[in-house]
Amino acid sequence: MCMSPVWTHPQVAVALVDTIEHLSGTHAGYRRAHARGVCYDAEFTPSGEASRLTTASHLQSAPVRATVRFSHTGTDPRRHDGERAARGFATRFHLPDGSNTDVIAVNLDRFVSSTPESFLGLLQAAERDPDTGQPDPAKIQAYVGLHPEAGTALAAAVGISVPVSYATTEYWAIHAFIWRDADGGSHPVKYRWEPDFGAEHADPTEAASWSPEHLTEELAERLAEGPVSFTLKVQLGEEGDPTDDPTQVWPADRKEITAGRLTITAEAEDQQHWAAQSFDPNLLTPGIEASDDPVLAARSAVYAVSYDRRAHER
Ligand code: HEM
Repeated sequence: MCMSPVWTHPQVAVALVDTIEHLSGTHAGYRRAHARGVCYDAEFTPSGEASRLTTASHLQSAPVRATVRFSHTGTDPRRHDGERAARGFATRFHLPDGSNTDVIAVNLDRFVSSTPESFLGLLQAAERDPDTGQPDPAKIQAYVGLHPEAGTALAAAVGISVPVSYATTEYWAIHAFIWRDADGGSHPVKYRWEPDFGAEHADPTEAASWSPEHLTEELAERLAEGPVSFTLKVQLGEEGDPTDDPTQVWPADRKEITAGRLTITAEAEDQQHWAAQSFDPNLLTPGIEASDDPVLAARSAVYAVSYDRRAHER
């Protein structure tokens, strides 16, 4: 009988980062994904609506400082901003007690794989054929045949639109998290950042003629005119909504609350400092717990491997 190997998180993390490097090359000192990014100063003001569902300190009533990193998903920091590619929106909330908690989001509402092992299989299937220099479509088809749950997310990732601005893009944190209220009750939730300026998509032909770092330049021009803001929308899961599978979204009619507003004011002064930091979706705070999503569980180990490699290259 053929048994799949059982991986520990450190093993699968090393295999994932090795495979990403094998596919896309290594760019010394940079993150192994989302290599080019810029950080911004921000403030988060909770609406108070979440306080009956979680004791998390930044979701009660007082505003907290935050740092945001917008990024291009590519492993190469020279990737062009006009490309069809995912964009990242990582937020670190600086909490009153001196600790931090992160929310990491992208402009896609679901992930391509339901486990870290199946994501490794997808990366391996995407390996370039030495004769054509391109991934072999038959291998990808075979992967989707074995993992039909990947189909919708792969199609969305391939057809992703080009943002007009980081400020007019919608972002999802994808995984479920569990909120814990003051009485110990638990509430499954998913986060979405809604741009207060509305969502817009660029014409890809026009975007091809942009300067390579157009989205950073565009945001600098906007911020010179005034802050940009996003509303944190939180979808409340119901009985039977999967918390363990990031390829699945919850039904659109689930109740959504407004947890607060994030206002981005300026580029952070110390970009070198922030480039050397690592965001982590499992950097949580009392009142917020990880769900049983195995991809979420694996991400801290993956990011630690990437961090360790890039830190030793500086
Ligand atoms: C097993 C699945 C995944 C792998 C192997 C992976 C891999 C990576 C790696 C290697 C980094 C660089 C970490 C660092 O050096 O600090 C990274 C960053 C990032 N990932 Fe993932 N990732 C996975 C899942 C996801 C998911 C589901 C999301 C969607 C929310 C996501 C969004 C991001 C973002 C936005 C960043 C940039 C964070 C920052 O600005 O520092 N990743 N990922």
